[in-house]
Amino acid sequence: MSAVPGNVGVVTVTAMETGVTVQTQRERLMGHLQGLQQLAVAYVGVVNGLFSTLASLERAGPAELARVAGKDPGYVTRWCDAAYAFELLEEAEPGVFALSSLGDDFRPEAPGTLMPLAVQAVLGAHMAERAAGLTATGERPGERVLAERETLLPWFGPMLEHQFSGVLEQHVLPGVPAFAEVDRRGGLAVDLGCGNGWYLRRLAGRFPHLRGIGLDAFEENIRQASGLAAAANLDDRLRFEHGDLHHFAVDEPADLIAMNRALHHVWDQKQNVFRILREHLRPGGVAVIWEPNWPVDRSILRRPGHRGMAFQNLSEHIQGNHFLRPEEVAAEFENAGMEASVHLFLDDREAVIVGRRKV
Ligand SMILES: C[S@@+](CC[C@H](N)C(=O)[O-])C[C@H]1O[C@@H](n2cnc3c(N)ncnc32)[C@H](O)[C@@H]1O
Repeated sequence: MSAVPGNVGVVTVTAMETGVTVQTQRERLMGHLQGLQQLAVAYVGVVNGLFSTLASLERAGPAELARVAGKDPGYVTRWCDAAYAFELLEEAEPGVFALSSLGDDFRPEAPGTLMPLAVQAVLGAHMAERAAGLTATGERPGERVLAERETLLPWFGPMLEHQFSGVLEQHVLPGVPAFAEVDRRGGLAVDLGCGNGWYLRRLAGRFPHLRGIGLDAFEENIRQASGLAAAANLDDRLRFEHGDLHHFAVDEPADLIAMNRALHHVWDQKQNVFRILREHLRPGGVAVIWEPNWPVDRSILRRPGHRGMAFQNLSEHIQGNHFLRPEEVAAEFENAGMEASVHLFLDDREAVIVGRRKV
């Protein structure tokens, strides 16, 4: 909303605000602010294991909760008040708390956990603060901004896993025919920029003849990926390595090379990336690139499901990246002498571009 110069008290309203008074706008935004605060309180609980600990205790006062969780009683006392205010906790008896059903849903191990929303909210606030400062200078510090807040980095992998593993299982695996070949043939799958390794774990769990190698530039991701593969008894088939994908090399030709939300991180060196993809695939093997589908038509960004993508592209700019259009990725496959096909999912928000090395 903007004031019209020289017309005190007169305001123009944008299309989004049409028919809405200033007072209702304020109330609407205050509701959003409280939503953010609720997610911020939830984040403190997630990171410190307070939801999970309270679930195991069923009910506890702040001192006991702090003791069992191994955290500071002063902070936990204040957190209990805030979590109670935002209806994440119920007071079972004076000074004794239990999880509300909403609080229970924030346990990271709860089915369909709400944890990713709490992590996204705090990650978003961090990125907005960095963008606010950097807009003055134009500096783009790169990937390291993700590691600037020490509590956030370990939650990045779990956040992505919970956001996208269901999409893989329900939409991408059945919707991309190349996976049926992987199921029949088995062989070697490589995941470049593998995060916490969730994608290879899902593939290996589903395709018993598949082996996998994951590579990521963050040591924390590789530590988590190796631990999670071992916990799932998949470490005899999955291996995770720390390193820069620009130097990736393996002796054996791969049947599938995946990059999930990783290509836009290395797009500035795309020639080298597409060379690596082509050279490491066996003839007939496929590269499967999964990226957000940045729309050509800007008005699509107004759709509620797409807004988050526009915000994320602002934070990608800090990291030196930007989101891609699937046609750009397909064109690079063609330039590399590979055959490309594009598959769109979830109201066209998600794009999977498959490049096949010619036989
Ligand atoms: C948005 S995350 C996606 C992680 C994972 N693929 C997933 O879907 O959960 C992008 C990942 O690419 C990794 N990455 C970016 N540049 C890289 C590089 N040059 N070499 C290896 N990994 C890289 C980052 O460390 C990060 O884990």
